[in-house]
Amino acid sequence: MASEVRGVVATAKGAPVTVETVIVPDPGPGEVVVKVQACGVCHTDLHYREGAINDDFPFLLGHEAAGRVDTVGPDVTNVAPGDYVVLAWRAPCGRCRSCRRGRSWYCFDSANATQTMTLADGTPLSPALGIGAFVEKTLVAAGQAVKVDPAARPEAAGLIGCGVMAGFGAALNTGGVSRGDTVAVFGCGGVGDAAIAASAMAGARIVIAVDVDDRKLQWARDFGATDTVNSRETDPVEAVKALTGGFGVDVAIEAVGRPEVFLQAFYARDLAGTLVQVGVPSPTMTLEVPMIEFFGRGGALRPSWYGDCLPTRDFPILIDLYLSGRFDLDRFVSATIDIDHVEDAFAAMQRGDVLRSVVVL
Ligand SMILES: NC(=O)c1ccc[n+]([C@@H]2O[C@H](COP(=O)([O-])OP(=O)(O)OC[C@H]3O[C@@H](n4cnc5c(N)ncnc54)[C@H](O)[C@@H]3O)[C@@H](O)[C@H]2O)c1
Ligand SMILES: [Zn+2]
Ligand SMILES: [Zn+2]
Repeated sequence: MASEVRGVVATAKGAPVTVETVIVPDPGPGEVVVKVQACGVCHTDLHYREGAINDDFPFLLGHEAAGRVDTVGPDVTNVAPGDYVVLAWRAPCGRCRSCRRGRSWYCFDSANATQTMTLADGTPLSPALGIGAFVEKTLVAAGQAVKVDPAARPEAAGLIGCGVMAGFGAALNTGGVSRGDTVAVFGCGGVGDAAIAASAMAGARIVIAVDVDDRKLQWARDFGATDTVNSRETDPVEAVKALTGGFGVDVAIEAVGRPEVFLQAFYARDLAGTLVQVGVPSPTMTLEVPMIEFFGRGGALRPSWYGDCLPTRDFPILIDLYLSGRFDLDRFVSATIDIDHVEDAFAAMQRGDVLRSVVVL
């Protein structure tokens, strides 16, 4: 029988979110229902409620979640009821043109639940990033539920499902940061700090944190930044160059999602350096770069979708790093809140008070 649960819904562009009754169907073939235990508040949720992703309101928000598998539909073999899982917004299909070429971290046809969760009156909900997890139970494709070690507490483990994985992978998978590299990370929220931690772990010799908020810069140091630049007070391109012998960095990571920050990252690179764009722009933003600068500087401009991760490969690795004390996921959890306080969490995020508020269910 379908479940009636409470969930956080964005009903209209820019309107405060509300908690509504959500109808979750029983899982069909290839689907599972997951009892959500914790779900982080990511900036992408705010992008959804501002209408900056698309206009498919109403949205069921939340997508950084850990929980227990509740029920499974026919033909599900990768998980069973009771399994502890982190939800992924990429579940490679194995059949699209990218998967067939062995590049399943780009999968162009990632699996989501076939059935739809609805409001009590039957209005279909668009689940954020194909998940929707600020809700007591959610329906996803079985491949989106990735088993991890249950020793990792849900508040921390859930963060692997989006922001932390995106930042970690932006540095290591997309940017290819390795031993001896110089790195600058623009925007030190949950995503940027994960990129900083990953760069430090990979042996980068200089990791420069750039943000407009001194508190964020202090936290970035705790994740492994060797230097910090407040780009509201100092020209960040000049500052990054001054910290790298006048040359710029090997890898510049944009984790804000704004054209002016893209340009800072673009010009803060050394020759042949890589720019990784992990911040999500809104549909109206445009870029203008002198073509000779693009060509003459060489290197690569690389968007990073979900840190080019493979959830079944990468989630267990990050959880093991966490459980062995080498990756401090707990440091991302600034506050735990209940499901009625997501709007307050957006405000705290905008004020820069938190890295992650985590909804505990
Ligand atoms: N590509 C992906 O797969 C992916 C996944 C998750 C999140 N994201 C995106 O990454 C971005 C960051 O997400 P988050 O959750 O870390 O957000 P956040 O709000 O926690 O952090 C953003 C940070 O950027 C800083 N900032 C704002 N304006 C700035 C500027 N002009 N220059 C430098 N710093 C500035 C803020 O002070 C804050 O510290 C968002 O755009 C989000 O949508 C992308
Ligand atoms: Zn595919
Ligand atoms: Zn996210």
